[in-house]
Amino acid sequence: MTFTDDFLWGGATAANQCEGAYNIDGKGLSIADALPGGKERFAIAASSEFDWTIDESKYTYPNHKAIDHYQHMEEDIALFAEMGFKCYRFSIAWSRIFPLGTETEPNEKGLAFYEKMINTCLKYNIEPVITISHYEMPLHLAKEYGGWANRSLVDYYERFAKVVLTRFGEKVKYWMTFNEINGALHFPVMSQGLIEKTGATDKQVIFQAFHHQFVASSKAVKIAKELSPNINMGCMIIYATTYAWDCNPVNQQACLEFNQEMNFFCTDVQVRGKYPSYTQRIFNKYGIQPLEIKDGDLQLLKENPTTYIGFSYYMSSVVDVVNQSKNKTSGNMFGGVKNPFLESSEWGWQIDPLGLRIALNELYNRYQVPLFIVENGLGAVDKPDENFVIGDDYRIDYLRSHIEEMEKAISDGVDLIGYTPWGCIDLVSASTGEMSKRYGFIYVDLDDEMKGTGKRYKKKSFDWYKQVIASNGSDLDIND
Ligand code: BG6
Repeated sequence: MTFTDDFLWGGATAANQCEGAYNIDGKGLSIADALPGGKERFAIAASSEFDWTIDESKYTYPNHKAIDHYQHMEEDIALFAEMGFKCYRFSIAWSRIFPLGTETEPNEKGLAFYEKMINTCLKYNIEPVITISHYEMPLHLAKEYGGWANRSLVDYYERFAKVVLTRFGEKVKYWMTFNEINGALHFPVMSQGLIEKTGATDKQVIFQAFHHQFVASSKAVKIAKELSPNINMGCMIIYATTYAWDCNPVNQQACLEFNQEMNFFCTDVQVRGKYPSYTQRIFNKYGIQPLEIKDGDLQLLKENPTTYIGFSYYMSSVVDVVNQSKNKTSGNMFGGVKNPFLESSEWGWQIDPLGLRIALNELYNRYQVPLFIVENGLGAVDKPDENFVIGDDYRIDYLRSHIEEMEKAISDGVDLIGYTPWGCIDLVSASTGEMSKRYGFIYVDLDDEMKGTGKRYKKKSFDWYKQVIASNGSDLDIND
């Protein structure tokens, strides 16, 4: 068994990390516009003083400019087409469509931009894959409403989803309601718009916000179903395959609980359409009182599950509650114990290709719905020579080893429909607001101060990925 003929090879980005043009054509501010650049980004956003104030005298804001995909969109998509992309995953900046989030009428210029983007993709036979909300809710909704903890966001999101699904639903078959919805368990700033002052450290608030997001997601699914049977609505989670440190049953139990909370809770609700049986155990653990659930909510969840699972996979993690292990490491949204069997990226994320095969099997065995790897990749420092030649063999090695495991998972019986490596063109890192943490097949000449020409250059991985797609995943060799 290998990749199907219609396998969706492509790449992924998010509006806030690549578009720039943060205040152009009527766009309002988003929460991403208020996150400072630099390695301290998460620490600053998690501090008790943080209140979403944009202070340019103190910080830089790389997302404001990013790689200016807004102006370079056609050139960038032409490069994706040259690689042979079958699909392109991008997100719609909510604040381009509803600048504050609360308006009753959308901003036509924002819609026109995405219309052009979708048409550009279709011109090259590239299937657009859209994330409705990717870490970029209107800042106003976070500042004045307290983010997803406030039930009224369900209505604002529903309006946003209805506008974009109605306008683009005929042309776009694949959608996801929220990016990495489960990441909020560890860092609710970006996906729930919560900061310490509004409850970011309070699990009661986080789980209430989850409930609102689940309801909103189901409403979007309902809208899509009413519009067309051709629209596929997916959920999207971070998946980090998680191992117990050892065979101590105590660690095994802790690993099981971690998996329930982090890897499965959100998909259990969104795909199975109901809160899982272990919900009360989680609530007891965190002292969470019964959530505010309105009449009709649970019925809505039940009737409108998502029909495929999109997920990001960068690394695996290890649980050790007995604390026999010594070394800690960082990771995507959450760190953990260092796995002695694995290498790590320059940012400490543990590289584990086999973990991807395990992830695919775990998810498919549990849900039996199509899976879509919508993010994967290696954040690394690239060093171009004077002619901007970039020999990123390390990136090719990472991607190749993960694709090999995808193929094995397909042989295991997993229904995998596509693969969109993250940051197919270099963009601003979400966790650190850096340009120097690069994922792309295409190098963008900008440094961490956002200085540079902004010109695009093909890396070695560009030709390699082109060959991978042309051979439908059968030729993964590097040809020097
Ligand atoms: C995922 C996010 O968590 O990881 C992306 O969906 C993000 O937005 C990606 O960019 C990689 O993380 P980082 O911090 O290296 O940009």
